[in-house]
Amino acid sequence: MSVNNYIQTHKERFLNELLDLLRIPSVSADPKFKDDVFKAAEFVKESLLKAGADVAEVCETAGYPIVYGEKIVDPNLPTVLVYGHYDVQPADPYELWDSPPFEPVIKKTPNHPEGAIFARGSADDKGQFYMHVKAFEAMMASGDLPCNVKFMIEGEEEVGSDNLETFVLENKEKLKSDVILISDTHMISMQDPSITVGLRGLTYMEVEVTGANRDLHSGTYGGAVANPINVLCKMIASLRDENEHITIPGFYDKVQELSAEQRERLNEAPFDLEEYKSKLEIDEVHGEKGFTTIERVGIRPTLDVNGIWGGYTGEGAKTVLPSKAYAKISMRLVPDQDWKEIAKLFEDYFKSLAPASVKVKVRSHHGGSPAVVSDTSVGYRAAEAAMEETFGKRPIPTREGGSIPIVALFQKELGSDPILFGFGLDTDALHSPNEHYGVQNYFIGIETIAAFFRHFKKLSEA
Ligand code: BES
Ligand code: ZN
Repeated sequence: MSVNNYIQTHKERFLNELLDLLRIPSVSADPKFKDDVFKAAEFVKESLLKAGADVAEVCETAGYPIVYGEKIVDPNLPTVLVYGHYDVQPADPYELWDSPPFEPVIKKTPNHPEGAIFARGSADDKGQFYMHVKAFEAMMASGDLPCNVKFMIEGEEEVGSDNLETFVLENKEKLKSDVILISDTHMISMQDPSITVGLRGLTYMEVEVTGANRDLHSGTYGGAVANPINVLCKMIASLRDENEHITIPGFYDKVQELSAEQRERLNEAPFDLEEYKSKLEIDEVHGEKGFTTIERVGIRPTLDVNGIWGGYTGEGAKTVLPSKAYAKISMRLVPDQDWKEIAKLFEDYFKSLAPASVKVKVRSHHGGSPAVVSDTSVGYRAAEAAMEETFGKRPIPTREGGSIPIVALFQKELGSDPILFGFGLDTDALHSPNEHYGVQNYFIGIETIAAFFRHFKKLSEA
């Protein structure tokens, strides 16, 4: 039976297995779900063995385990390394989900007329990495696995991949490959397939501003003692000027400016601003002056407050002058910004903004480097050919705003080209309530991955 026939005849089971995986709430950020994260790792290992891996193991780390699996057909054949993550973002706020986040249901949406799977992790990244497991099974079952394959599926991507670096450095030989396939990004649409060639980096900070040594009566002391929330708001406001340019000295020093021609090409990607606005129900977009929306997301750095708290937020009113105020602030970075350098620049500047009436603490959570991947490598060309075959249209290269911190490390340490072979859509509500992944995207992804293996072998020999 051909690979595609095998996929067609096993569709229902392929879907049900993914639903089983989605029922495991493997939220890496919240220790409450610790057992489930380990359970998801076991599930991945078992699924690799069932699909035909010679080796599949749950490798311990200082945090959540990394699942490694492989099938070596012939050491002389090219080797594909698949990377993905089985951990998911927290599902909060639960009340905004139309159905429980860990009880997957299939519903139609305007972008997914044939149905989409609604569950936390459906697109990011369980539905996407599992396509590789199923493509592998289909190639094995039909006796047509054209390349060796290795899997490295981690459980800490959503919290910064802290232990993956050590694993990669300690296992360079084991992870040796000719290309690294990662399905954890978007494409433009089913009609406009694309391959991601740029990802932003990230620096994530937390700040604490302290006024008096305790909460105070806001009448007795208000007006005479600093209110740390007021101060924090002012400090945050001064991190950007009226053109939405970030004011941290040195912040843009290493930002690669693209040539007019490169920018023009980037802006040729299909993009409908009116549709973008209407889907988000906003009257206007907002960002750095002088750049288009595609550029603001793809090639420009940002600074955003992810959360801000302090004082009284309960029912009713309480007149209080709080002692402390906090914020979580992240910056998306572009080549060649260095996340550790940016963390330091932020810390110094943020502290310098504080009036003498408050004390400021700044700490760095995690970060990651931006990455740009080749659009001329053998891997890219194989991905292009595979998509052209299944979508009937040549994919275009795009730059995306999200981050996969480990991509830059792969480039540096493993020396093979990562291919960002994502099949999700940007409307799939990643990290938001009602995350979903198209059923059709899942199946076309499986077929395209199998096609990639064929093309990669052929092009590697050429
Ligand atoms: N799948 C995303 C990354 C992504 C999303 C890339 C959309 C391109 C388009 C990934 O799982 C993710 O969410 N990464 C985090 C990284 C962080 C926690 C270090 C992100 O981008 O916020
Ligand atoms: Zn994510």
